[in-house]
Amino acid sequence: MKIIGTGRANPAVVVTNSMLEQFLDTSDEWIRERTGMAERRVISSEKLEDLAAEASLKAIEDAGLTPADIDYIICSNVVNEYATPGLSCIVQGIIGATCACIDVNAACSGFIYALDMADDRLKSGKAKNILVLAAEEPSRMVDWKDRSVCVLFGDGAGAVVVTEGEGMIGSRLTTVSKTDCLHYFRTLEPTPYITKEEEGKPMYMNGREVFKTAVLSSSRDIKTLLDAAGLKPEDIKYYVLHQANMRIIEAICNHLGLDMSHFPHNVDRYGNTSSASVPILLDELNREGKLQKGDKLVFSAFGAGFTTGACIIEWTK
Ligand code: ACO
Repeated sequence: MKIIGTGRANPAVVVTNSMLEQFLDTSDEWIRERTGMAERRVISSEKLEDLAAEASLKAIEDAGLTPADIDYIICSNVVNEYATPGLSCIVQGIIGATCACIDVNAACSGFIYALDMADDRLKSGKAKNILVLAAEEPSRMVDWKDRSVCVLFGDGAGAVVVTEGEGMIGSRLTTVSKTDCLHYFRTLEPTPYITKEEEGKPMYMNGREVFKTAVLSSSRDIKTLLDAAGLKPEDIKYYVLHQANMRIIEAICNHLGLDMSHFPHNVDRYGNTSSASVPILLDELNREGKLQKGDKLVFSAFGAGFTTGACIIEWTK
């Protein structure tokens, strides 16, 4: 597998920390110090599928292809307005592709799970050009009265197009069933046979527990992959990490004994966009001309499940 195109799309509405101060018992200082976030983009009049389609079309154009050339779409998504059909199917229609489509939900690690699936599909010879997309609206999962959670998230979409090539150096996926520290319940339709009251609950997160688990698991995944590939931490040009919290990114940087020049970030501008955060950051690096052929990149993410995903990529574009 190799990446041949990237794209992203973010909602128009910018929510700054001082805007949150107007309806929450919080402060710009607290949010910046604890998370590194200054603002986030939040869906208002847009639909997630339109952002997803915009990111996809940009990635396809960057790859020098048209939607007709795409022969499989994998979309990482946790929540959108439709429980079914999958978001990938809706995006397929908007962009005018005709291929098979599938959604995956591995929470914030979903983009890396989707990339890993794309790698396997290319290896099996079942597809040639795959659109790997992550589109998320966590702003619709949180209680906007809960200051400990709602300040952390933003919405957005990121996409890549991959084809056959030698760009995937290694990948590692892990899952430990652990629903107590991070989950979100939706209501389902009542039936004559269900006696319990249906009750939706906004996202619950034990922030401290997630913080510790995230730092340890991401550092472990990255070290395991580097060792397997015979690489040293400094051989990696950029660590494109899940943008959940600046302090988590700094802690992983310390674990690896590197300086922050290897850790590009945009969590200050977008907040945590769940599985879309890695492809959004990758697209920024690509479009800013910061990636050169032969650069080695690490992607690493963690999320509800508890899932983790990491991979080492060689930039071949
Ligand atoms: N503004 C002001 N005060 C706040 C806010 C807020 N927005 N939120 C919490 N506080 C208060 C708490 O009530 C608490 O007050 P108390 O001491 O009087 O009880 C105090 O700040 C400290 O709270 P902690 O939770 O201990 O703060 P911490 O330093 O752990 O930071 C944070 C909280 C930012 C959530 C941190 O734990 C974190 O980033 N965790 C990881 C979160 C994460 O990565 N989530 C996503 C993972 S997976 C996915 O992407 C879905």
